[in-house]
Amino acid sequence: MQTPAINVQNLSKNYGSVQAVDDVTFQVPHGELVGFLGPNGAGKSTCMRILTTWLPASSGYAWLNGYDVMYQSMEVRRRIGYLPESVPVYGEMRVHEYLTYRAKLKGVERHGRRARVDHCMAKCRVKEVQNRLLSTLSKGYRQRVGLADTLLADPPILILDEPTSGLDPVQIGETLATIKELGGQHTILFSTHVLPEVEKVYDRVIIIDKGRIKFDETKKAIDAREASYLLEVRGPTDAVTAFLRDQPEVASVKAKTIESDLTGFEVRSRDRKDHREVLAGRIAAKGWGLRRVEVQRPSLEAIFNEVVRRRQETAVAAPAPVAATEPTPAPTEPDKTPAA
Ligand SMILES: Nc1ncnc2c1ncn2[C@@H]1O[C@H](COP(=O)(O)OP(=O)(O)OP(=O)(O)O)[C@@H](O)[C@H]1O
Ligand SMILES: [Mg+2]
Repeated sequence: MQTPAINVQNLSKNYGSVQAVDDVTFQVPHGELVGFLGPNGAGKSTCMRILTTWLPASSGYAWLNGYDVMYQSMEVRRRIGYLPESVPVYGEMRVHEYLTYRAKLKGVERHGRRARVDHCMAKCRVKEVQNRLLSTLSKGYRQRVGLADTLLADPPILILDEPTSGLDPVQIGETLATIKELGGQHTILFSTHVLPEVEKVYDRVIIIDKGRIKFDETKKAIDAREASYLLEVRGPTDAVTAFLRDQPEVASVKAKTIESDLTGFEVRSRDRKDHREVLAGRIAAKGWGLRRVEVQRPSLEAIFNEVVRRRQETAVAAPAPVAATEPTPAPTEPDKTPAA
């Protein structure tokens, strides 16, 4: 089997008593474009900092293209392009100057360096600001310069921590298109909070919450999840419910009253085929009015909300803070306190 581009085994990191990354294991094959999602403080940046050799792990292992992040950090650095959460740039340098300097640092040969910088500036749409001082750039442009920087040495792996943060909607679209395009030639792990946009580009999504992986599925698997239908039918709720339940294509039915004789039905199909027309025909044949028929697939946002909200609801259901007279319970973090 080919060595995975990113191989993470039981990785953990604690900052004192804060368990930022907790026993994380995953592999990313070459060329995969992975959306790394999670609420604020989930541990995404910490994980990325470990993978890019910026931060040592407390325990566990990680290899990039087969190189150990701890013991072969220089080899790892040669093979990655890293866009950190806040892009560190030298404000007194001009964009092209800065990128040329970075290219030199990254060992891009003198011959061809200029062309490479030009190419990366064009790809990340910063050519028009190439003579501007970095300190005068807007956050979005600075972010793009950071992205151009990651591409300079043409590394096989890109680790991008919120590459779309601070961008306006048009720039988000453009940056995601660039990332998608890069996805063909590079393995990419990118974190973001903009879920509907991720939906357009990702091959796989990993959701991390409180340092632990809560969800890891490919786009193919998500797309193949069974669909449900939303039907709005004017007719007697009980009779329509019973009728829908009797249909051989239907696995389950949930009814919700909209108006006195209009009901919304969430119908789960037994298979992945589209049964909308068949069901619509049968409902019409019964003489009931069909106001709406819609297929619904779980969006990334719905999946994210389900995965993350489940945890938040559990937290809300936990005992409320006790009165001041009682002994103070352990800090609100319900998770275990890691060993030092
Ligand atoms: N240098 C540090 N010292 C102490 N705690 C830290 C440090 N860096 C991060 N943390 C804590 O570790 C946890 C994970 O933080 P991290 O920055 O990795 O999350 P994140 O998923 O990137 O969040 P965001 O979406 O807000 O960027 C948080 O509880 C954070 O407060
Ligand atoms: Mg972060």
